[in-house]
Amino acid sequence: MRKRIIGAGVVAGLVAVLAGGAGLAAPKAPPHLSYTADQAAAGAQVYAVRCAMCHGRRMEGTLETPALTGKFVANWAGRPVGDLPAYLARAMPQFAPGSLTGDEAVRLTAFILQANGYAAGARPLGAAERINLPLPPPIVAPRQ
Ligand code: HEC
Repeated sequence: MRKRIIGAGVVAGLVAVLAGGAGLAAPKAPPHLSYTADQAAAGAQVYAVRCAMCHGRRMEGTLETPALTGKFVANWAGRPVGDLPAYLARAMPQFAPGSLTGDEAVRLTAFILQANGYAAGARPLGAAERINLPLPPPIVAPRQ
């Protein structure tokens, strides 16, 4: 009986040491781009009412209006993601620039990211996101 109790204590101590050691050894993962599915869903609602008439229901664009998928990403890749909501808040919708709230601009950005194949995550997107927009999976050329 006594032996068992000591055993448990040793195991608990070992676990604590291992956990502490792991915490020290594991480097913090670099932050990655993230937005939530809720943000994208909210953005989709704003998009349908305020953007789709020009950019197309599926962001395909028209002769006069650029698409917000495909080559669009190449225009913005490598720049801080926060530039996009800042641009939207300043310039879109084209007939009423400045009429979006900051939250709407961020949610619209989340929806545009989703439409371009960026995966949603647990961390919400913020207006001041400094992470540079990476190329999304569908556009990265396959390695051969
Ligand atoms: C009246 C038509 C119209 C509406 C409505 C509109 N846009 Fe635009 N948008 C344009 C045009 C035209 C451009 C081309 C850039 C320019 O010269 O303003 C553009 C450019 C953009 C760009 C930059 C594209 C690039 O390749 O860099 C984004 C992003 C964008 N719009 C998003 C939106 C969003 C989001 C909404 C809804 C809040 C919206 N737009 C509403 C016409 C419109």
